[in-house]
Amino acid sequence: MLKDFSILTHAYDATSAQLDDATATERRLSQLRGCFSDSEAYDEALAREDSLLYRVTAVEPAHGNGDLHYGLGVLYPGKVGSEYYLTKGHLHRTREAAEVYIGLTGEGMMLLEDEATGESRLEPIGEGKVVYVPGHTAHRTMNTGSTPLTYFGVYPANAGHDYGAIADRNFLKVLIEENGIPVLKDRISL
Ligand code: F6R
Ligand code: ZN
Repeated sequence: MLKDFSILTHAYDATSAQLDDATATERRLSQLRGCFSDSEAYDEALAREDSLLYRVTAVEPAHGNGDLHYGLGVLYPGKVGSEYYLTKGHLHRTREAAEVYIGLTGEGMMLLEDEATGESRLEPIGEGKVVYVPGHTAHRTMNTGSTPLTYFGVYPANAGHDYGAIADRNFLKVLIEENGIPVLKDRISL
């Protein structure tokens, strides 16, 4: 019911890349141990600085059937070795829950991986791009540009996040920079 909602509009602050009155989650390099393929480059980068890689501010207005949650993500530019800064990546706890990503600024890619078959797809995300992430699909975002990548993600309230399944084996593909351009490789071949 309408009266249950104290706030329906949240300000999207383009400068801080945050939503007001939302729950913020920050991820630093130290929290992404095991995500990058080059563990030596990871240890070296971490010894230099525990950099902030990304932040998500999430709004979870209601939790019933049919409700929606959404978040504004900002993923900063950078690399560990030749691998672009990335999000941890996850499946939804409710596996059939899909999601829509709306790119706002910057340039990046989404790595999608079918949980059942391991089939991978790389989709561009950033200014002017909207990506549909089907259910049963692990998803990770990479910043391939030189400015912050910002995006909205909108998903069913019951989607939830399952980080464990993907953390156990990591994504099968890795996006690295080679001769100045992003190239998708098999993790196993690195
Ligand atoms: C929500 C969603 C995004 C991510 C965000 C950070 O379902 O996909 O809002 O949560 O891009 O990535 P993770 O959650 O993988 O650290
Ligand atoms: Zn998601």
